[in-house]
Amino acid sequence: MPGKIPQEKIDQIRQATDIVELISRYLTLTKKGKNYFGLCPFHSEKTPSFTVNPEKQIFHCFGCGKGGNAYTFLMEHDKISFIEAVRNLAEKAGIPLEYSATESKQYQEKEALYFTTKFAARFFYQNLAAPQIGQIGMDYFKKRQLTPEIIKKFGLGYALNRWDGLIKAATQQSIKIEQLEKCGLVIPRKESSGFYDRFRNRVIFPIFDSSGRVVAFGARRLVDDNSPKYINSPETLIYQKRETLYGLAQTRQSIQAENLAIMVEGYMDLISLFQAGIQNVVATSGTALTPEHAKLIGRYTKNVILLYDGDSAGSKAALRGLDILLEHDLEVQVAQLPQGNDPDSFVKSKGANEMRTLLKQARPLVEFKVNMLAQFEDLSSAAGKTRVIHSILESVIKLKDSIKQEIVIREMAERFKLNERILFQELENLKKRGTFAPVSKVANGDGRQPVQPAEKIKIPTRKSRANVAEITLTKLLIRNPDSHAFIFHNLDIQKVRHPKLREIIEVIYSFFLDKKQLDQNKLISYFNDSGVASFIVSSLDEAKELKEEQLIASDCIVALELRDIDETIEKLQMKIREMENQKQNTEVIQRQWQEFINLKKEIEQKKFIVDPKNT
Ligand code: UTP
Ligand code: MN
Repeated sequence: MPGKIPQEKIDQIRQATDIVELISRYLTLTKKGKNYFGLCPFHSEKTPSFTVNPEKQIFHCFGCGKGGNAYTFLMEHDKISFIEAVRNLAEKAGIPLEYSATESKQYQEKEALYFTTKFAARFFYQNLAAPQIGQIGMDYFKKRQLTPEIIKKFGLGYALNRWDGLIKAATQQSIKIEQLEKCGLVIPRKESSGFYDRFRNRVIFPIFDSSGRVVAFGARRLVDDNSPKYINSPETLIYQKRETLYGLAQTRQSIQAENLAIMVEGYMDLISLFQAGIQNVVATSGTALTPEHAKLIGRYTKNVILLYDGDSAGSKAALRGLDILLEHDLEVQVAQLPQGNDPDSFVKSKGANEMRTLLKQARPLVEFKVNMLAQFEDLSSAAGKTRVIHSILESVIKLKDSIKQEIVIREMAERFKLNERILFQELENLKKRGTFAPVSKVANGDGRQPVQPAEKIKIPTRKSRANVAEITLTKLLIRNPDSHAFIFHNLDIQKVRHPKLREIIEVIYSFFLDKKQLDQNKLISYFNDSGVASFIVSSLDEAKELKEEQLIASDCIVALELRDIDETIEKLQMKIREMENQKQNTEVIQRQWQEFINLKKEIEQKKFIVDPKNT
């Protein structure tokens, strides 16, 4: 295709390019909140002001003001023309520009398939609207309370009760049967020559790709007979199940606007919610969630609520989905429907408001996993409990954020009445071992390697409770100025032993005393240390507010207090033993010891913690 490159092609190439991945080839990008930061390649700088926004797929440098998309970046960076940039990215994305004979053939072949699926979608839609022919389909949708607007919005249709309804209509339009076959719309007869329609006497749900082209169909039976409830298109040149999410073309805007995707399982679930005004929904439509699905969602939002059926099969599906989503750095919660409900039936019987309430009550993974696994495991047995804990820890390890890990561990400790330290130890063991091999099979089903979270500041000592508390506190301070009053009110900074962390906390404290808004970029510039900079940047990960931050902060402060007390108690105990060996009177020191034990109890009960808001 010499000469001008069509706009469509230019857009297609841009969409196939991930700007983060592209720019990462030229400079180091560090994730900070939703965006990536790096040292600007266009001007000389010491602290990163070059940002890349993966959602918008743009870059911007706050230092020199340069910005743009993937093409602009390449043009600026490599000093090449627009056309050259397009060529370059087309090659990287594997999209042919100058078509070779075979490439050209495949492109045309695909276009022919799109043409055919579009024709079929129209045909089904018109059938439904046709007065007598489509009545039975229309009645079905009426029974399911769908409005004409929603039928139109989702292009719903009806496949005639004949063996050759589509075949006839297509042939009349000179569409070859071969094309229908390639689209999976017809099936070759076994006994004789010729073909018959795949979808007959069913209502039709066209499946669109995210750019809005029809690529496949789902078709539901009208009555409860012995046939499969839904029949779906097979995979074709233009339809890969693992890369397609039902409804996205209609719901992506709302997902972006709400910054949340609600995942459901069925076509009807999605449409019902949409009609009820809850439009930020996607459906996996019968296939298990894949990494490609997770990536696709991640382009629109990082927040996902799984809304699956209240039966155990639905929950099992959710369990599998959970880890895939976590691994792709999505924020996952699970909303559980009452037994015997699916999103469609629930929203119809209870209404949109109750649905919204239920979504608000979505819970993070621990609770969900506990409730879920409790159905399969006997939590009163030690072995059962251990298996459940290990399964949850396998998910915890996939959380990229240590604060989130901390929250979950705390919840687990409470729920299972276990010492947090033991759970942290287990988590560490898990990281070292890679996996709890036999146990993970129970819950996770496969042996994927857990991801080791990167900690940029070297914490050389063992990860004791107090050491973790120091890191967590520092992170809280960096990312949430709202926590400053509470933490500085209660924390004795000298109890922080890691020198770098204490330094960071002291700088933040000076900001706090000066009543200056904490500027994280400035904070970074206080330290001429890339380790500290990336620690700070990584702490900013996830702008989402954590309700329980104050609780975590006070737990951390308690841990730091207890570390000192425990050491003192230990010293006293040694002293007592020593004196007893020498047959000395230990009464005084025993009393001292008792005082520290009492103090420890008080600290554990957080009696010294004060909320400055209440004073
Ligand atoms: P469900 O059995 O939960 O059906 O399947 P549903 O979505 O509630 O459908 P209605 O409300 O009875 O119409 C969930 C999804 O699994 C796929 C479909 O995508 C369905 O929406 N499925 C189900 C199939 O592909 N084939 C089937 O036979 C059944
Ligand atoms: Mn249903």
